[in-house]
Parts: sequence; C-alpha cells; structure tokens
Amino acid sequence: MHNILDIKSKVSDYRLGFVDTIEEIEQYINQPNTITFIDENVHLLYPSLQRPDNIVLPSSEAIKSYTGVARVLQNLTERRANIQTKLVVIGGGVLQDLVGFCASVYCRGIDYTLIPTTLLAQTDSCVGGKTSINFEGKKNILGTFYPPTEIVIYSRFIETLSKADLYSGIGEIYKFHILQHKISELNLQDIDSMIIDGLRYKTDILSRDEFDKGERKFLNYGHTFGHALETSSNNQLPHGLAVILGCMIATRIAQSLGYVVEHFDQIINTGVALFRASDVAIESEWFDFDTLLEITKSDKKSTGELTMVLVDNKPFLEIVNNFSIVQKALKETYESI
Ligand SMILES: NC(=O)c1ccc[n+]([C@@H]2O[C@H](COP(=O)([O-])OP(=O)(O)OC[C@H]3O[C@@H](n4cnc5c(N)ncnc54)[C@H](O)[C@@H]3O)[C@@H](O)[C@H]2O)c1
Ligand SMILES: [Zn+2]
Repeated sequence: MHNILDIKSKVSDYRLGFVDTIEEIEQYINQPNTITFIDENVHLLYPSLQRPDNIVLPSSEAIKSYTGVARVLQNLTERRANIQTKLVVIGGGVLQDLVGFCASVYCRGIDYTLIPTTLLAQTDSCVGGKTSINFEGKKNILGTFYPPTEIVIYSRFIETLSKADLYSGIGEIYKFHILQHKISELNLQDIDSMIIDGLRYKTDILSRDEFDKGERKFLNYGHTFGHALETSSNNQLPHGLAVILGCMIATRIAQSLGYVVEHFDQIINTGVALFRASDVAIESEWFDFDTLLEITKSDKKSTGELTMVLVDNKPFLEIVNNFSIVQKALKETYESI
C-alpha cells in the first residue's frame, strides 16, 4: 500500500491506502472469518473477484432501505456472523452506506474493510464514517457514524465506470476545488492526484470536526439543491452530477446576493463543460422552484429556513430568504446546460 493516510476518529482510528494491482484486492476476499459484499456490476466486470460465497447486491437507491437492511442482516445471521467476523465491502457509495449501516448495528458493531469502486466513493464518500439508508422517501434520513477499519483504493476500478458515474465522481472533485478556491487547478488528466487531493482536504476537515457540528458542513456545498434535484429527478441524476448543478446554483446565488465570487466565470464554465461531458440530459420539470423548495425544507439538515453553504473566496453559511434570486439561479443554471 502507498499514499497512506492515518485517519483519527472518535469512534475508532482507521487507515486508507492505495494498491496498484487487482491481485492485492483479491487478497481481501474470503479470508477466514470474512464475508464479502460486492456490487453486482463490479462482480460481472471483474471475474477475478468472483467467489461462490460472495454476496452480490444490486446498487440503486432502492436497496438503501429497510428491505435492503433486512437482506444484509439475514445474510449475516445465516452465516452466523459474530463479533469476530470481518466484512469486506466492494462497491460504490450505495453499498458503502447500506453495508456500513448494517455493520454498525449488527452485534452493536462489527469491523468492515471498504474497497470503493466508483470515483465518487474513492475521492469523497469512503472517508468520514457516514452510513445511511433512505426512509419514507427521505434520502439518508437514518444513519450512523461508523468508519471502516481500513479503506483500500485501487484507482483503476474507475476505468469501467459509465460516463455518467465517472463525471458524477468528478462532480465532488469540482466541489472540493471551488471550496479550496483553486478551480484553475482541476486536472482531469491526473485523476489519481485529484483523488488524493480530495481525500486530504476532507480528512483535514474531519480532524477538526468529525460529526458535522461546524466546519464539516462546508462539504455540503452544492448539496442543498443537489439533493433536491436528485429527488425531483427521481434519482435519474447521479449524486455528483446533481452536486455540479447545485454548486453552479449556489455560485449564482452568492453573486446575486452581492458577494464577490472571484472565479465566477471559470466556476460556471467548468461546471457546464463537466455536466455536458457526462451526456446526461436534464428535464425542465426537475427545476420546478416550488417542488425544490419543498424538498429542501424536508431535508434532514433543514432548520425550516433555506440555509446554504456559499463561497466567495472561502466557504460560509448563509440563510437565504430572497427567493427571486434563488428562482433566477435555478432558471439560469437550467438554461446554461
Ligand atoms: N457516506 C457518505 O459520506 C456519502 C457521501 C456521498 C454520497 N453518498 C451516497 O453514495 C451514493 C452514490 O454513490 P455512487 O455514485 O458511488 O453510486 P453507486 O454505488 O450506486 O454506483 C454507481 C453505479 O456504478 C456501478 N459501479 C460501481 N463500481 C463500478 C465499477 N468499478 N465499474 C463499473 N460500474 C461500477 C454501480 O453498480 C452503480 O450502477 C448515494 O446513495 C449517496 O447518498 C454517501
Ligand atoms: Zn456528495
């Protein structure tokens, strides 16, 4: 392993590192006392990871649910998993959230190793220990803070991602660059460095605010309207692509409110270019102002007011109550794509 990051956590410290070969990933599967959960598409695309004992799960928001939890827990009880059992999770953010949640409640917590296979999971969701499932139409409303014991990144997994999922991961990298006030340094030719940069930035914030009480909230940049658009599109928009739109909306709102957004044009032009490169088509109904506002109000982080992370040359929280500015930002963002 190389590029190792040791991450401090009040739950339990953990370690992240990179490997260069798929053989190194194979070593994690089916060791004694191990149960491996693997994403259906990864299972099909990487035959060398297939084992008769692996539990293959489809990846969709629908499985991040009560029934998905029951399915995972049933498998654990059938296999007589106990406090000594180690789970291995090979997949994207969906499997991470679901199996991580189950690992946190089974026997009041069993160990799991996380092997993220999407760019979004490698650069962002794998660290921070958040696990979650959806409930009653509310995204990620049930969850725990429960980090894996180890995170192993094989960055070549991303070579088999669909364009939409690749650009979804790039969406979070785009967010990290705006937050760090360095949009001009976004370099898609060197994805490995982009992954490491995102992880370093996020783990630095986690070292000061693991449980979302202060600074970690800034990582929610682009997510207020990003999450709402995911919901209004009925999850047709992958998470990170919705975040790209959300970042552009927030950028426009900041400028209309009178903040000086130094790299405004570059942020918007980059967002438009990235979104278009994903080849995902958007629909005007997803941008309906009343629907989006309703969804943001029912968000778990909502306090009843529209609180957003904005960025001028650094991130800050702002209660936005000028809805005509919000409406204009939504319209301009839709029309720019
Ligand atoms: N826990 C957190 O901190 C956190 C942060 C951000 C997002 N999330 C959650 O993560 C989820 C999104 O994660 P995601 O974008 O990784 O989605 P995902 O796990 O659904 O994966 C996206 C698609 O890529 C496929 N796939 C996975 N790896 C592949 C590979 N190597 N090659 C080809 N196809 C592959 C999957 O089967 C799926 O169809 C959302 O549910 C979101 O709420 C969690
Ligand atoms: Zn995100």
